[in-house]
Amino acid sequence: MKTALVTGGGSGIGLAVAERLKADGYHVATLDLHPSGTAFSQTADVTDRAQVDAALAAVRDRLGPVTILVNAAGMDGFKRFQDLTFAAWQRVIDVNLNGVFHCVQAVLPDMLEAGWGRIVNISSSSAQSGQQFMAHYVASKSAVNGLTKALALELGPAGITVNAVPPGFIDTPMLRKAESRELIGGTVEDHIERTPVRRVGRPEDIAAACAFLISEEAGYITGQILGVNGGRNT
Ligand SMILES: NC(=O)c1ccc[n+]([C@@H]2O[C@H](COP(=O)([O-])OP(=O)(O)OC[C@H]3O[C@@H](n4cnc5c(N)ncnc54)[C@H](O)[C@@H]3O)[C@@H](O)[C@H]2O)c1
Repeated sequence: MKTALVTGGGSGIGLAVAERLKADGYHVATLDLHPSGTAFSQTADVTDRAQVDAALAAVRDRLGPVTILVNAAGMDGFKRFQDLTFAAWQRVIDVNLNGVFHCVQAVLPDMLEAGWGRIVNISSSSAQSGQQFMAHYVASKSAVNGLTKALALELGPAGITVNAVPPGFIDTPMLRKAESRELIGGTVEDHIERTPVRRVGRPEDIAAACAFLISEEAGYITGQILGVNGGRNT
């Protein structure tokens, strides 16, 4: 059975992806600042290459080569652009974009060796719509979509597919924290009316898309940005 690494697997979307892949029979490891409790958990910061490499070594040791990578680790940020410090800008880019760089590069040798791989990057619907007061976040997630397309072209001949899933309004600790700070324009439930399918998104909705994209039968799908947002972004 194949081994999957899920970054951000300690909470929210990443945790749901880890649980889904485990239920589907994959060997699953998580890489997060916090332990996941559900899979082989590595505590590491995606911005620190040495920590990522050490985590990868431990995962390989325990579960074998990693041929599936889901990059879900991420952080949000809310600041009027003129008040945004360069340090805050840089931190969001570092976690959301550079973290993907480190994790893909660290895992790639296993996929190249196997002649098979699946990478799914969790970006954001805000990269499609834009979002005020989130310039750093939107820039980082747009870059992840671009990186996805470039890597799909580069890695396709090696049997590796690379896709992105940009979620919109998924009920996770990140979204609830933003709600409690009054940063999302009302409550999470208020957004149901603005959502064509008339419900709040669940982490399991993103996990289902990831499960499909990493499957054998999705092998002809690469470089795609598969929105999972209840129809809010089309
Ligand atoms: N919830 C939404 O509505 C929504 C919408 C669009 C995009 N997203 C994206 O989905 C992904 C998951 O978000 P979520 O809503 O589940 O949030 P979450 O806060 O519940 O989970 C994010 C996880 O990433 C981990 N993480 C953060 N920085 C890290 C670092 N430097 N190194 C390792 N791990 C780190 C956190 O510890 C946490 O466990 C994020 O990339 C987020 O930007 C979420």
